[in-house]
Amino acid sequence: MQTIRGIGLQANPTIVDQIGWDRFDDSPIDFLEVLIDTFVAPLDCRFVIDPMARPILDALAERYPLLAHSNYGGEFGFDPLDETPAVRRHAPFVRAIESPFVADHMFIGSAASSHMWSSPLQFSSAEVVRVADRAAALQDRLGVPLLHEDAFFYAPFPGSDIPAGEFMAGVVERAGTWLLLDLHNVFANDTNHDGYSAERFLATIPLDRVVEIHIAGGQWLGGTYHDFHNAPVPEAVWDMLAHVLPRAPRLEAVVLEVQGPAHHPQSTAVDETWLPMIRSDLARAASIWATCRPGA
Ligand SMILES: [Fe+2]
Repeated sequence: MQTIRGIGLQANPTIVDQIGWDRFDDSPIDFLEVLIDTFVAPLDCRFVIDPMARPILDALAERYPLLAHSNYGGEFGFDPLDETPAVRRHAPFVRAIESPFVADHMFIGSAASSHMWSSPLQFSSAEVVRVADRAAALQDRLGVPLLHEDAFFYAPFPGSDIPAGEFMAGVVERAGTWLLLDLHNVFANDTNHDGYSAERFLATIPLDRVVEIHIAGGQWLGGTYHDFHNAPVPEAVWDMLAHVLPRAPRLEAVVLEVQGPAHHPQSTAVDETWLPMIRSDLARAASIWATCRPGA
């Protein structure tokens, strides 16, 4: 099992294919986070890892410890759990790269359309029970701690009748699972939704279950603030990071997410300002880590 501790950069297609994952030798990076879905093979073939993607995965692993992150496993939809990509592809991938834990998004998903990005689960007491029971079963199959990432969402799922933080807290308490706290998602949801409070969210979720944190920047477009990962980390997110770090005793990792049009077609394009922006945000994250977690 690899050791994941400190500051990481998400090695998504924008970083790997456009900016260059090997341009951060002078940055304080302790590990890379890889998106499982960009490396796994289709369900109807015999490979777990796509042979075409294997060389780049091996190159990343040669230079850094790797942490797995899941987007589209379909684990919280209504298909039988053992038929989902989460069990058939993500679990063996996590074992293959020896990731010590793995996080997923709290998105709905199905076999017909697993790509339901930013489609949140229904925040309700009934869904706490259903989702938690599937999460506990998935964590058993993974064999490593399962973290749930708080989702950025454009609108709550119909029928939601409890706050997002109460939903997350209920799931991890019942399932015995953990949290990936995406502070930019918290900031964006607070910015976009009258009924959502970042302060209340952070006061409601159990911070002692937070193992990983995501930080990122975003973009205003059409009257909405989008979680595009395409701008410097906002000051409000840095403030939340400094608030949470001393209060999350199980925290192991802070990961910077940077993506461009590969993540969303309406995102601003990658240009020469992005590399210094990323290096600056990594350095600031490392500085806050050193200040708030001395000796960690
Ligand atoms: Fe995230």
